[in-house]
Amino acid sequence: MKDIKSVADFESKIKRVVITEEEIREAIKKAGKEIDKMYDGRPILLVSILKGAFVFMADMARAVSVPCEIGFMCAKSYYEGTVSSGIVKITMDLDKDISNYHVVIVEDIIDTGRTLNDIVKMLKARNPISLHVYTLLDKPDRRIVDFKPDYALFTIPDFFVIGYGLDCAEFYRNLPYIAEYEEK
Ligand code: IMP
Ligand code: MG
Repeated sequence: MKDIKSVADFESKIKRVVITEEEIREAIKKAGKEIDKMYDGRPILLVSILKGAFVFMADMARAVSVPCEIGFMCAKSYYEGTVSSGIVKITMDLDKDISNYHVVIVEDIIDTGRTLNDIVKMLKARNPISLHVYTLLDKPDRRIVDFKPDYALFTIPDFFVIGYGLDCAEFYRNLPYIAEYEEK
């Protein structure tokens, strides 16, 4: 980002902490237990969409006790104005056939809902045994496409957040907490 040239620039954009490390840790512990209960010993495939969900994935994977495999994909959605063209470009796909898997998508944030709506449609067409979406954050006020995650760890109002994997122009992913970004 052009206007971040120093630590002072970097820090001046962190408006306030919205969700603390401790709150994230507790919520993940609870979500992990929920997954354990839901799959009851059956193996799962945790899928995360890069890059934003990489930190959440690392912590979620360690919060579940059911046998689990890990998969990553990278996706970009294309839109005509504000209307989704329905085209999702997968820049990196899963490296396996998911038809024998209980798939759990772990996502960083659902905003307009376009990205996950498209990805879920695409993955369902590959006939997994089941598919559920766990999102760290949900911003339902911003929804354009009608999409509901199966589980949201936190629901937040409409402001831009950074940290714990979430970026602004690639910075701030390494903050251990979630903060509101100072837009000014
Ligand atoms: P959607 O398709 O509009 O739901 O977009 C979801 C993607 O937009 C997320 O995976 C994030 O990469 C990005 N995004 C949406 N809101 C925020 C935010 O508040 N902070 C950082 N990234 C965001
Ligand atoms: Mg992003």
